[in-house]
Amino acid sequence: MINFYKLTDFVKQILIENVNNKDVSVDFTLGRGNDTVFLSENFNFVYSFDIQKECIDDFERRKIENVKLILDTHSNVDKYLNCFDCGMYNLGYLPRGDKTITTLKESTIISLIKATNMLNVGGFISIVLYVGHEQGKDESLEVLNFCSKLDNRKFNVAYLNFINKNSPPSLVLINKVR
Ligand SMILES: C[S@@+](CC[C@H](N)C(=O)[O-])C[C@H]1O[C@@H](n2cnc3c(N)ncnc32)[C@H](O)[C@@H]1O
Repeated sequence: MINFYKLTDFVKQILIENVNNKDVSVDFTLGRGNDTVFLSENFNFVYSFDIQKECIDDFERRKIENVKLILDTHSNVDKYLNCFDCGMYNLGYLPRGDKTITTLKESTIISLIKATNMLNVGGFISIVLYVGHEQGKDESLEVLNFCSKLDNRKFNVAYLNFINKNSPPSLVLINKVR
């Protein structure tokens, strides 16, 4: 059984069971590579972004063939691919890394505007949000505001929050329906 409170595991289960076509996927925040490994095992191909060379170099050593690592901001996603079936964002800073290098609301929103346009019908985007640090609180509000305004004829958007915990991570799921 999966741990419901461990959102990073919970979201993987939802994606496996619900994404229509397991072809092209995108990890918008490579970090330590857990989500990229998951996507590489369940999708034909993965594009994986991070702005930290350390993350790219560490993952490269694993020599996983169906992963294209991209040292660039996820707001440039449209430079590298046209469309995809599943995208994952795990916002914030690198665990056990430099906490001053974190995702920022401006580039996250640009990336989300592009990603929601590039997502194939039947596909999903997951976003794990953290409010435990100032930058994260601000970014979470912007992301929730953006997602709540997505056209409801084209997207189903769900939000999961643990309302009896202190500063818990939360999850947004975007499904493109037409
Ligand atoms: C919470 S970590 C991701 C965790 C990761 N998914 C994992 O499985 O370990 C967030 C990552 O986003 C990266 N990041 C920050 N800003 C970014 C941007 N504009 N584009 C792409 N990656 C970015 C950070 O360098 C950091 O590695």
